[in-house]
Amino acid sequence: MSSHPQLIQIASRDLSIGLRSESVSGRKADSVERSFQPAVIWGARGHAKVLNEFLPQLGFQIVAVFDNDPQATSPIAGVPLFHGTAGFDAWLGPRGDTPLTGLVAIGGQHGGARTEILSLFRTRGICVPAFAHPTAFVAADAQIADGCQILARAAVCTEVRIGEGSIVNTGASIDHECAVGAGVHIAPGATIAGCVTIGDRAFIGAGATILPWLTIGQNTVVGAGAVVTKHLPEGVVAFGNPASIRQSAQR
Ligand SMILES: CC(C)(COP(=O)(O)OP(=O)(O)OC[C@H]1O[C@@H](n2cnc3c(N)ncnc32)[C@H](O)[C@@H]1OP(=O)(O)O)[C@@H](O)C(=O)NCCC(=O)NCCS
Repeated sequence: MSSHPQLIQIASRDLSIGLRSESVSGRKADSVERSFQPAVIWGARGHAKVLNEFLPQLGFQIVAVFDNDPQATSPIAGVPLFHGTAGFDAWLGPRGDTPLTGLVAIGGQHGGARTEILSLFRTRGICVPAFAHPTAFVAADAQIADGCQILARAAVCTEVRIGEGSIVNTGASIDHECAVGAGVHIAPGATIAGCVTIGDRAFIGAGATILPWLTIGQNTVVGAGAVVTKHLPEGVVAFGNPASIRQSAQR
């Protein structure tokens, strides 16, 4: 895991000018020229719109969207969409060494797909930093790996570690000293209490609460609104208050 140098984030007071975080640091806002870096997104559904809402505020402009679904259309007005790896490589070919940043807009329970696309981006020389919405709180000592997304009003507290390609969705909070694996999705409004461990590719549904010190196994799904009071093994679906295991996760 890497920590803050790869986390793209600016303070909310700088929002109105929409500049690169590095450009803003240590300067007065009105003394910096507007400059956008090109970014690409893989995934043409609602999550792409969520990312598009704040990327310009961090100094990035989406120049292309990719999706494996041959029926997919671009979710962002004026931005072209290309299908599959073939479409991606055809688009990338003429760009030579132009620096590009990539984000994966695959939400839901698809953490494995998210980390696979991050790997694809890397093999093509595309940077995959972590991003935080300008209204998110990320503690200075939190460790956020590449390809993570911390969305609006989310909170990542002290000494939290989050693995590659994880999403902390709108208004979710991860309290002190949690260890979150790779490809995890903490859905909107979920509350992860302190010292919780969450395995790779787990999905914590909207508004769920995980009590302190618990472990959630990899590939496990916690349903929306669940209150988890006991450890959960890997590969199960649990929901309810108190949460109980209802089925195996389909992977
Ligand atoms: C837990 C979950 C994964 C189960 O999905 P599923 O296997 O398709 O379950 P079903 O929709 O078939 O529901 C099966 C039963 O469980 C109930 N149920 C499903 N999810 C529930 C939940 N979170 N809490 C309480 N009951 C739930 C259903 O009402 C249904 O009950 P019934 O048999 O009496 O009609 C899903 O319902 C869920 O909570 N997903 C999280 C969605 C979310 O947070 N998305 C955020 C996107 S950013």
